[in-house]
Amino acid sequence: MKALILVGGLGTRLRPLSVNTPKAMMPVLNTPFMGHVVRRLARHGVTEVIFTRGHLAGLMEHYFGDGSGFGLKVTYVDESRPLGTAGGIKNCQSLLGDGTFLVLNGDVYSHIDYTAMRRFHAQTGALATIALTPVANPAAFGLVETEDDGRIRRFIEKPRADEITTNMINAGCYLLEPAVLDYIPADTAVSIERQTFQSLLAEGRPFYGYDTTGAYWIDMGKREKYFQLNMDLLGQSGEVQACCGRGTAIDTAAAVNGPVVIGDNCRIEAGAVVNGPAVIGNGCVVSSGAVVTAAVIWNGVTIGPNTVISNSIIADGCVIGTGARVEGTVLADGVFSAPGLALSDTAVWPGTILNN
Ligand code: GDD
Ligand code: MG
Repeated sequence: MKALILVGGLGTRLRPLSVNTPKAMMPVLNTPFMGHVVRRLARHGVTEVIFTRGHLAGLMEHYFGDGSGFGLKVTYVDESRPLGTAGGIKNCQSLLGDGTFLVLNGDVYSHIDYTAMRRFHAQTGALATIALTPVANPAAFGLVETEDDGRIRRFIEKPRADEITTNMINAGCYLLEPAVLDYIPADTAVSIERQTFQSLLAEGRPFYGYDTTGAYWIDMGKREKYFQLNMDLLGQSGEVQACCGRGTAIDTAAAVNGPVVIGDNCRIEAGAVVNGPAVIGNGCVVSSGAVVTAAVIWNGVTIGPNTVISNSIIADGCVIGTGARVEGTVLADGVFSAPGLALSDTAVWPGTILNN
């Protein structure tokens, strides 16, 4: 089966992290986010992934190449202008072939059983099947009302408070028959949520929801959700105490309290403390006396002596000066923070120099 992944969004809600890194490539436990997604697809028998993309697209090609390292074929399709979620799919029509295909929103990580979902899709004879997941507040999602047999009655994208009749939402994962493409005009910006799904409902076509309650699911397209995904996966890996890459040196007088993942060529100095859940990328230094708790640290970051870092995301190449405190904060790539600074609940843009 082929899978099409929509990665054309601008990642606006992940700024400033997404200024220089597309959301699909943000590190999750030190692996680009999309790498986790593609590996799961390969395990479910997906043979080809088509990325339909826009923002900072070259970085994805560099990582995935032709896909052979992931056990499948990877194809890239560029949109010269944003075509919307359905327009992006229509734009790939010539590559999709004549079988059922999977579509994923490029910011969703889930443990949905695609194989079981496909069985359900075949049994109902649906033209389109949407994976459904429960959330506490559907306002930021596509709300989906179904009949007892799973048939979709109503789809409301970003429902108003008075429209919320269920907690089941569109999980951003669809199985589609090629005939759905007939409902999408070519070379036009079209939303699958606001237009195509409405057309299927208006014409009474077989359109089903597949309940995935119980399977882990997250849309990592906001900073706090990206952070949560890292924390959740560290928690799920259970017994992981300290998992370290090659060339990393942890001083015997440092404390690393799991679950912690540390990349290659890092140095954790004497008297430093890293409290999980935490991720530290490649080539980082955690200096003596620093205390890092619940953090996602990308590559090449220097954490100065006697600093306190907690509940924060620190992107590539940041330098945190001696004695600084960074709490509940997002530092985009290349931020320099002077010694002794206190940052809390803030987000700093790439390359900013923060002085006292
Ligand atoms: N190729 C392409 N072209 N991709 C696009 C475009 C486009 O013009 N616009 C958005 N995308 C991609 C985004 O990169 C993202 O991966 C996906 O489509 C969904 O867009 P978001 O902007 O993240 O939408 P959302 O999170 O507000 O809502 C969507 O996802 C929810 C689940 O997380 C909707 O599908 C909701 O119905 C759904 O509940
Ligand atoms: Mg999203």
